[in-house]
This record gives sequence, structure tokens and C-alpha cells, in this order.
Amino acid sequence: MSFPVDVVVMAAGKGTRMKSQRPKVLHRLGGRALAQHVIDCAARLSARSVVVITGHGAEQVEAGLQAPATTALRFVRQEPQLGTGHAVQQAAPVLPDDGVTLVLSGDVPLTRPETLQALLDLCGGSRLALLTLDMPDPTGYGRIVRSADASVQAIVEHKDASEAQRAITEIYSGIMAVPTQLLRGWLARLDNRNVQGEYYLTDVVKFAVADGLGVAAHRISDAVQVAGVNSPVQLAELERAYQRRVADTLMEEGTRLADPARLDVRGELVCGQDVEIDVNCVFEGRVHLGNGVRIGANCVVANAVIEAGAVIHPFSHIDGEKLGVKVGPGALVGPFARLRPGADLGAEVHIGNFVEVKNSTLAAGAKANHLAYLGDATVGERVNYGAGSITANYDGANKHRTVIEADVHVGSNCVLVAPVTIGAGGTVGGGSTITKDTAPGALSVARGKQVGIANWQRPQKKKQAP
Ligand code: UD1
Ligand code: MG
Repeated sequence: MSFPVDVVVMAAGKGTRMKSQRPKVLHRLGGRALAQHVIDCAARLSARSVVVITGHGAEQVEAGLQAPATTALRFVRQEPQLGTGHAVQQAAPVLPDDGVTLVLSGDVPLTRPETLQALLDLCGGSRLALLTLDMPDPTGYGRIVRSADASVQAIVEHKDASEAQRAITEIYSGIMAVPTQLLRGWLARLDNRNVQGEYYLTDVVKFAVADGLGVAAHRISDAVQVAGVNSPVQLAELERAYQRRVADTLMEEGTRLADPARLDVRGELVCGQDVEIDVNCVFEGRVHLGNGVRIGANCVVANAVIEAGAVIHPFSHIDGEKLGVKVGPGALVGPFARLRPGADLGAEVHIGNFVEVKNSTLAAGAKANHLAYLGDATVGERVNYGAGSITANYDGANKHRTVIEADVHVGSNCVLVAPVTIGAGGTVGGGSTITKDTAPGALSVARGKQVGIANWQRPQKKKQAP
């Protein structure tokens, strides 16, 4: 491609049918705002710039979208909203004349970059190119009117169309590529003399034909690529379509999914070789699964790196948020485990059911298998951390660290009151509340001594007076 591409994203409309306080283009699909999908797609086309036209909820929309790394992002406001042609008129002053303008809609998230590239190739930097689609029920859409020799003559909006025109099943998708210099001239000629009293962008077709310039159409059959979101039902339908795409891509790369219809990726999931994912798992943010990782059913995994051969058993919740979570090679986690930000598990670590780990490092071979809490702790190699034990890391004002050195055995139901260090190779007796550092190799017990009273008579229930 030898011409620069500037993308205009129309996003000023209200989205009444969403019945939501949130502007329509900020509703999420696969964890990303609808319009963000469109912007990211533009970036994949190596567009020079993206101009988003905002109106309803403009401030929220402008704050809710991010510029891709390599493409400039600008916002232009359209107040009031007088139609799609009026929308693009607002962007015209910031579009350089040497490029092609690609018009997209902020509520159409699943157009493939390859499709847009084909449209740009058809435009070739010199003529108007429309993305069109055959639809069994074209009600509501602009119809592509062709002449006897099949060349495109006009787009006629449904409300303005005659009966004969309404029978046409080829519709305009809302996406066009047009040399910017030509567009500028045509935008100046728009009027609103139509049934809706709007400035129609689609009238540029008429002008191109009148100027003796050919209009090209790239006709596709995959309706999902041009489907817009107008209601929660349509949003849910496109969410499933998106998730299926993600699942298919993962499977093409070798990931084994128990059921591609029961996977949700709301971010970026990267899988090594021989990864297996059971049903109903949700992945959020950035997740990396190493070779041979297995994820059991009903896990939520967010912002985490799971290294080769680790197994996450069912119903585990892992969320690294900003700090991240790391699960080392061959580690076993769950079922019903919770790994929070800053959990960093070494090789072969075992974290069992109802164990919570937060901001703690566990060295290779450490185990906490049942009902335990490790927060702000540094745990050495091969430590065995007993059922029901906790690090009391918070004194009500500040967090403190617990250090458990290598080969320590912490019995069941212990409280380690931080800051505290358990010396290497030491043993903590079950039920102990440890408030002072312990010596390496020592047995430390801090609990009431056992007392035995022989032939103890339990209290008897008093007889009620009649
Ligand atoms: C438009 C096309 C129609 C096409 C259809 C595909 C026109 C006149 N008609 O229909 O041929 O079949 O898309 O979906 O272009 N918007 C603004 N400002 C406005 C009006 C709209 O930013 O003043 C935005 C909307 O937020 C939306 C997009 O433009 O993202 C399309 O608007 P919408 O009203 O859905 O399209 P139609 O005019 O019905
Ligand atoms: Mg409209």
C-alpha cells in the first residue's frame, strides 16, 4: 500500500436501545470497549491516525479509549448529531489531503483487518470503495443500487427507498474507503433533503457517479464482520462470536479446549504447547500458560504467568492485578485455591484447597495444602505449612513480613505474628501463636499446656421446677 490511511470512527450516536448510562461504544466485548476493538483494528492496518467522532457521553468516551502504540489517536466532537455525513464533516479539517480516509463505526467491533485491507486495496488511493454485504433481511439498511451493467449508482437509505429498491438485498455496511481530497469536496455538497432530515454520508456515492468516477464494492458474506451493537442481546451475540474466534485461534495453535463454547478470554491469553483447558474458565488481562499447563474446570485466571507443567485444579481463582502472579514449573494449585497479587510460587510448590496467598514468595518444593493464609511472607525451600495456619501480617495500621526459612515445618492452626522469622529447619508445634523469632533447628511451641483431670463429670442439665 503506497498511500497513508487515516481512520474515522463514528461514535457520536446515543445507543438508546442499550438502556444504559454508559455510552454504547464503551460497552465491553472480550473485556475491551467496543470502540477500542475498532481502534486496535486500525492500528493493525498500520493506519497513520485514528479520529474518533464523539457526541453523546463525549467526555466518558474520550477518557475510556486508549491510543495504540504506533497510531495517533484524536477526538473530534459532533454537537448536535445531524447524521453520518455531518459526523465526517467534523473530522474533515484534521484529515490530511494526501491520504485515504477509512470510515468505520465505533459499535461494529468484529471487522477483520484483512477485510479492511482488501477494501483499501480496491480503493487503491484513487477511488471510492464500499464494503457491502448480502442480507436475507435487509430492513433498515442502506441499499446498494446498481445499474444494468452492475456498476454501483447510489446508496438509498431504507426510509427513502422505493418498494423496488427495498427488494435489493445488497446493503451498505457503513464502512467505506475514500481518497480524502475527493471526500472533502463531496462533503461540502451534502444536504439534508431526505426523509430523516439528516446529512447522509452515503450521498457521496451519488456525487462520485455524477463526477464520472467509478465506485467499487467489496462484497462479503460474513455478516458478523459488519454487525453493529444496538442492544444487550446483540452485544451478547457478538461476545459469543468473538469468544468462538479466540477459541478457534487457540485450537489452531494447538491448545486443547474441552469445549470451545465454554471459554471466555477477556484480554490476552498466550499458550505454549500442549496446554489443556477444561470447561468454564475465564482469562482476564494478560495470561501466559507455559508448555503442558493444565487448567481445571471453572477457574478464573487474571494477570498471571503459569509456567511449564503446572496444574491448576478446578475452582481456583488467580488474580495478579497490577503486581502479577507467578506459578512456577510443575506447581500444583487448588482445587479452590486463591492466589492474589504478588503471589510468586517456585517450582513444584503445592497450594491446596482454601489456601490464600498474597504478596508472598514460596521457594521450590514448599507446600501449603489446606485452609491456610500466607500474606507478606517469604517461604523457603521445602517448607511444610500446616492446615489452618496463618501469617498475622497486619497490625491494624501496617503490614509486616514473615520469613519462614528453608525446611521449616509449621504445624496446624498456628498464628505467626509478623514481623517474625522462623529459623531454618525449625518446627512450630500445632496451635502455636509465635510472636518472637525462633532459632534454626528448634522446636517452638507457644500454647497452653495440656491438663488432664481424671473422671471428670460433665455438668448435668438442671431439672425445671414443676
Ligand atoms: C448507516 C448508513 C446505512 C448503512 C448502515 C449500516 C448512512 C446515512 N446510512 O445507517 O446506509 O446500511 O449505517 O449500519 O450513513 N453517528 C454519528 N453521528 C451521527 C449519526 C450517526 O456519529 O450524527 C454514528 C453512530 O453512532 C454509529 C454510526 O454513525 O456509530 C452509524 O449510525 P447509525 O444511525 O447506526 O446508522 P444509520 O444512519 O442507520
Ligand atoms: Mg441513523
